[in-house]
Amino acid sequence: MPDNPNIIAHKHTIDIHRRRKQNGHSSFVLWFTGLSGSGKSTIANKLEEILVKHQVHTYLLDGDNVRSGLNKGLGFSEADRFENLRRIAELSKLFMDAGLVVLCAFISPLQKDRQLVKDIAGADNFVEIFVNTSLQECEKRDVKGLYKKARAGKIKNFTGINAPYEPPVSPDIEIDTTDMNIEEAALFIFKQITEKLKAK
Ligand code: ADX
Repeated sequence: MPDNPNIIAHKHTIDIHRRRKQNGHSSFVLWFTGLSGSGKSTIANKLEEILVKHQVHTYLLDGDNVRSGLNKGLGFSEADRFENLRRIAELSKLFMDAGLVVLCAFISPLQKDRQLVKDIAGADNFVEIFVNTSLQECEKRDVKGLYKKARAGKIKNFTGINAPYEPPVSPDIEIDTTDMNIEEAALFIFKQITEKLKAK
């Protein structure tokens, strides 16, 4: 749908720069991508704990809190995943505007959809984190029992089994969870973003 010419943005006095200054740190989107069960949400959760300990204002978005509310009713077809991620990108942008570091843990299997998120957030405000856990390892862990169901043909469009996952070509940060435990992975990311956190 084309943009409505009758919708004209109001310029608010308190803007993103003012909020960042007030918070004492920058705001941006940390985007975790990887297969289901790769450890995205667990690492994001640990990293959020570390950030909060350092007085950083954060919010964590993942499938559980978004797909059961705002995105209730969206499934796993390519079109629904696109809409899921588009809305999350817009939501993240608002939270970022509110001065928060937004941690997003979503499979986001397609390169073009991750690019859209990056375009919406702005390239400077987007950190792509590839949680690179192999399908074999995710399937072995099968924390939610979903791989077993997908193999049995009980779930359609399941990422890695009967729907694609396109690994990021040049992620900002890559985590190999067979190499690092959760705590180490979160600390590794924290170190990488320390400079970016400084308020400008
Ligand atoms: S995304 O592809 O649109 O980014 P999202 O991260 O929101 O996916 O949701 C993924 C979670 O939904 C998985 O971790 C899993 O628990 C659950 N899920 C249910 N059905 C599927 C499916 N067909 N493919 C992948 N994950 C699924």
